[in-house]
Amino acid sequence: MKTKIFFTVLTFVAMALTSCNDDNKDEKIEPTLYTRLGGIETISKVTDKFLTNVAADDLINSRFEATVGNHYRLQLLRNNLIDQICAGTGGPCQYKGETMLDAHAGMKITAAEFGAFTADLTAALDYYEVAEREKNDLLAILTPMESDIVDK
Ligand code: HEM
Repeated sequence: MKTKIFFTVLTFVAMALTSCNDDNKDEKIEPTLYTRLGGIETISKVTDKFLTNVAADDLINSRFEATVGNHYRLQLLRNNLIDQICAGTGGPCQYKGETMLDAHAGMKITAAEFGAFTADLTAALDYYEVAEREKNDLLAILTPMESDIVDK
């Protein structure tokens, strides 16, 4: 009798599990861009390479002279950029810096400078062989910020 009850319960459990599997069959959980990029590790090394590129870029490096000359300020910018990309791509970070409008207010940044900045980021993504899809997805998040950054 006990054996019969055991097998009956086992059959119900098996049926319940099978039906759960059926329910989930069509649910494809797409990883976040943060995960697809390679998480905080890739974002951190791409940001460091990007800042090196900016420092060597004669089109825009004068904009960052004061930042590069102050270790604390440079670290703050680095951390803000990492948090911004991490949070913007669905990662577990919180961006605590200023809005793009406030951070760049009064700088009168030109469209050409904005282009140079994103080209330096693209070069950093290429340096670490970030795949085309992830690269374009990240740039698609950052480029619309142009309206809050240029000519302000
Ligand atoms: C999508 C493009 C851009 C993003 C995502 C971005 C992001 C940021 C962030 C997160 C900060 C720090 C804000 C804070 O301190 O609270 C910042 C500051 C700054 N950005 Fe941008 N930025 C962009 C474009 C540019 C461009 C094109 C220039 C100039 C060529 C520029 C020049 C600066 C400067 C000079 C600072 C101040 C750095 C400091 O505090 O020492 N940014 N930006």
